[in-house]
Amino acid sequence: MERPTALITGATAGIGHEFARVLAGRGHDLVLVARDLDRLTTVAEALRRAHGVRVEVLPADLSERDQVERVADRMRRPDQPVEVLVNNAGYGLRRHFVTGEIAAEEKVLAVLVTAVMVLSRAAVDGMVARRRGTIVNVSSVASFISTTSYAAAKSWVTVFTSALDVELAGTGVTATAVCPGFVHTEFHQRMGVRGRVAPEWAMLSAERVVAEGLADAARGRVVSIPSRRYSALVALLRHLPLRAAARVNRRLGRSPRWEQVPATGPSDGAA
Ligand SMILES: NC(=O)c1ccc[n+]([C@@H]2O[C@H](COP(=O)([O-])OP(=O)(O)OC[C@H]3O[C@@H](n4cnc5c(N)ncnc54)[C@H](OP(=O)(O)O)[C@@H]3O)[C@@H](O)[C@H]2O)c1
Repeated sequence: MERPTALITGATAGIGHEFARVLAGRGHDLVLVARDLDRLTTVAEALRRAHGVRVEVLPADLSERDQVERVADRMRRPDQPVEVLVNNAGYGLRRHFVTGEIAAEEKVLAVLVTAVMVLSRAAVDGMVARRRGTIVNVSSVASFISTTSYAAAKSWVTVFTSALDVELAGTGVTATAVCPGFVHTEFHQRMGVRGRVAPEWAMLSAERVVAEGLADAARGRVVSIPSRRYSALVALLRHLPLRAAARVNRRLGRSPRWEQVPATGPSDGAA
């Protein structure tokens, strides 16, 4: 029998790499997307060797529309259908919107939002026709907090995924937004945050995020918030009166993590 195929963006590090590892372990062939070809090749070879699955590499910068289109073309190939799409690639800017550069904002929005939209659209035609498929969009707990343009982009991902799930009802295709809190990955390092980003009790492992995210996707849950502590936090945030929520947002928005850094610093997330 043909093995199912999963396409994962941002598959060379952190959460995306863990999705690749777990799905390969469950017998999926893989299509791995990221920018760094050397790293893609190394990760692909390790996964082939460990799990005996087929692994394609598809180098693409998802901030570039034509490169997103190449990935969308792969999604649409009828001869090697993709049954699981994981829209995971992403990064954050360590700058306030009001003092940052609009070009950097447009670039990150293209990765966090446009690529997710284009690839989800490319996925659904084939999935609906086959009456099976899984779309996992990696969002964030930040999508429930109104600070930073990153949180705004992740809010789009969470709401978009919920809207997609509504439209897909009864088709056999599911859409799940996985919303992690702080996770041990390269994310904050790439942003230029030095030292600890949060106390250890607030940090999750990529293993846990992916295990809970995939379990929730298999149950057809539309929003997955890994760990009880972050589920409780989100429940609390969603039930705050508007004025109290605004106070929380102002407090979080003043966090020193978002301090201004020199424009030439490593904080454009382009890594
Ligand atoms: N870590 C956290 O605390 C946290 C919390 C909540 C949500 N998230 C979300 O989780 C997702 C994964 O983040 P992570 O923490 O695993 O980060 P990570 O360890 O920095 O990995 C990011 C991955 O995305 C790829 N990538 C980055 N920019 C890209 C681009 N323009 N085009 C294509 N690929 C790109 C990177 O590879 P290349 O550099 O080779 O392209 C890498 O494979 C992101 O959407 C992030 O917003 C993270």
